[in-house]
Amino acid sequence: MRKPVIAANWKMHKRLDSSVEDALRLKALVGNPTHCEVVIAPTFVHLKSVIDRLEGSSILVSAQNVAESAEDGAFTGEVSAKMLRDIGCRIAIVGHSERRQLFGEGDASINRKVVSLLKEGMTAILCIGETLSEREKGRHLDVVGSQLDACLTGLTSSESARIILAYEPVWAIGTGVTASPRQAQEMHSSIRSKVTQIFGLGASESIRILYGGSVKPDNIAELMGQEDIDGALVGGASLEAESFARIVDYSR
Ligand code: PGA
Repeated sequence: MRKPVIAANWKMHKRLDSSVEDALRLKALVGNPTHCEVVIAPTFVHLKSVIDRLEGSSILVSAQNVAESAEDGAFTGEVSAKMLRDIGCRIAIVGHSERRQLFGEGDASINRKVVSLLKEGMTAILCIGETLSEREKGRHLDVVGSQLDACLTGLTSSESARIILAYEPVWAIGTGVTASPRQAQEMHSSIRSKVTQIFGLGASESIRILYGGSVKPDNIAELMGQEDIDGALVGGASLEAESFARIVDYSR
């Protein structure tokens, strides 16, 4: 039985006071849910304050990125997995399409980021997804399959227990256009088969695969009704605590 994960990606939004206030409001709204894990990902510089204020809550706090290098070094502007661990952060999103498209990150770099998180005993939320033109050419399943091959290179089946996958079609992110539940399920099922090829059946049955791209309170239930959708990575609709809490409460 896979426990769903509902994750908020706050991107480069919110000032420090609103990150902390919204985290506390969310804690009050969702309590300690048992039907799913709740994750919020504020910007790096707000992580410590949010983690401290959420002490005792089951809400997990994630970074939005991490350095490739597991070791300290001359990498100006980077934040390592070790540094995240130091402040009590145990999860990071890697390979988000905005990192890929706006900051030139490729699969090899993303693979190194996953490796460095796992080395520190952390969990990676690994994002994959095709562009609109790749989908229009009918290449979406292959594109996502090769992203998985490249981003998961060198990892073992037991390490896969600390990987959460997030399928985010680039054409659905921040556009208001959601993949239909059928399109999402087709891809999630193909991703699970690919994980079977890479890590074996046990790993593929237990790995969580989230859907991301214009998830809202009014479409979450239908998405969560799909067999291979194990949660959501939510951008825009996570910025208000009330809206995100309604997504967390999808089953009620
Ligand atoms: P969106 O963003 O929900 O605003 O489409 C999702 C994401 O970028 O993770």
